[in-house]
Amino acid sequence: MNIVRVGIIGMGNIGKYHAEYLLNKKVSRCELAAVCSTSPEKISNYETRGIKIFASAGDLISSKAVDAVIIATPHYQHTSLGIAALEAGLHVMVEKPISAHKADALRLLTAAQSRPRQIFGAMFQLRAEPRYLKIQKLIQNGDLGEIVRLSWIITDWYRTEAYYTSGGWRATWKGEGGGVLLNQCLHNLDTLQWLCGMPSKVRGFCQLGRYHNIEVEDNVTAYLEYPNGATGVFITSTGEAPGTNRFEIAGTRGRIVLESNRLSFTRNESDMIEFSRSAKVGFTKPDVWNAEIPFTDAPAPHATLMQNFVEAILDGTPLIAPGEHGIGSVELANAILYSSLIAQDLRLPLDAEAYEQKLHELIATSRFEKKVVEIKNDDFTQSFRR
Ligand SMILES: NC(=O)c1ccc[n+]([C@@H]2O[C@H](COP(=O)([O-])OP(=O)(O)OC[C@H]3O[C@@H](n4cnc5c(N)ncnc54)[C@H](O)[C@@H]3O)[C@@H](O)[C@H]2O)c1
Repeated sequence: MNIVRVGIIGMGNIGKYHAEYLLNKKVSRCELAAVCSTSPEKISNYETRGIKIFASAGDLISSKAVDAVIIATPHYQHTSLGIAALEAGLHVMVEKPISAHKADALRLLTAAQSRPRQIFGAMFQLRAEPRYLKIQKLIQNGDLGEIVRLSWIITDWYRTEAYYTSGGWRATWKGEGGGVLLNQCLHNLDTLQWLCGMPSKVRGFCQLGRYHNIEVEDNVTAYLEYPNGATGVFITSTGEAPGTNRFEIAGTRGRIVLESNRLSFTRNESDMIEFSRSAKVGFTKPDVWNAEIPFTDAPAPHATLMQNFVEAILDGTPLIAPGEHGIGSVELANAILYSSLIAQDLRLPLDAEAYEQKLHELIATSRFEKKVVEIKNDDFTQSFRR
């Protein structure tokens, strides 16, 4: 195979976005061969551009017209369609979250792990962004020392009522399986656990429908505790404007702050714990060096991940975001919500079955009625400019 023929399942906001950069040849050795949507009006114009169109995902998967699929449907179907595509021998790039809950994520991973020759990637494009790669380097090189505390206030995921009414699946237990944790800031949860590892304990405080007429969480504060005793706070919201995006990681050798598109590193001249133990006076602290860490923009991180996916298929290049890694963010989103619902601390790993059961209860007892009003001309790419 010299060229990977890709099919996209789900042609809403992000499906169309993937289609456009593929059609504009932003990913080499890759061609958009087919698209599929349950809403036929969303794909009819692709036929005139030489793309095969399918009204059902099953038909696209069994068509032999593609070698790989991007799954860009609502969350629950990531699992069922992901498994179907893997069983049909296709390579799979699944949109985030890889599944709506941990038990489903495990089902998807089992299917992928039993087919190691097929590539299974997840669309966590923040992993291709230089600002996060710089943070990763500071941590991995030991510049930061041992992580002792982190906080991420990521409250600039602002969404209007019109956003929530625009899709029947959105912000419902049955259609989406959660709110801001599982959808918008899932990217940040992935980045957090990719850079700093998984906490061993969480306590979530989630407000359901605090700012919007929805049944799921749109305002969250979570406390995180790590195996080495490090602590963390994660705060997010889709109702706050202007909102904040400040990511701070404190280590024994200094502090990293990413805010307002600036990355700064304040480096302790000596390890703060050793300094404390050896200092002979009480009111002193390590001298610091202040550094601005330069980074470039990531003009098209989704396309970067797709290029990497194609190279993984054709050349065996390691994936930037392997699908298996997607379980961490699902587990964190589920655990923070579950802890809030049962008003208790939760030790990780999360009991996947217990959480699935809780989600089924929420679905069964839901009285929420969704009124859908489609938006005609929205600029979805605004959601990337943050
Ligand atoms: N990585 C990113 O930057 C990013 C950005 C936005 C959305 N997403 C993710 O992408 C997914 C879709 O989000 P969206 O905003 O595009 O939603 P959307 O509602 O705009 O689009 C979903 C589309 O899927 C179609 N669909 C539903 N079931 C289908 C099926 N079985 N077969 C084929 N098509 C089907 C619907 O008709 C709809 O057009 C979600 O998981 C979301 O979290 C990722």
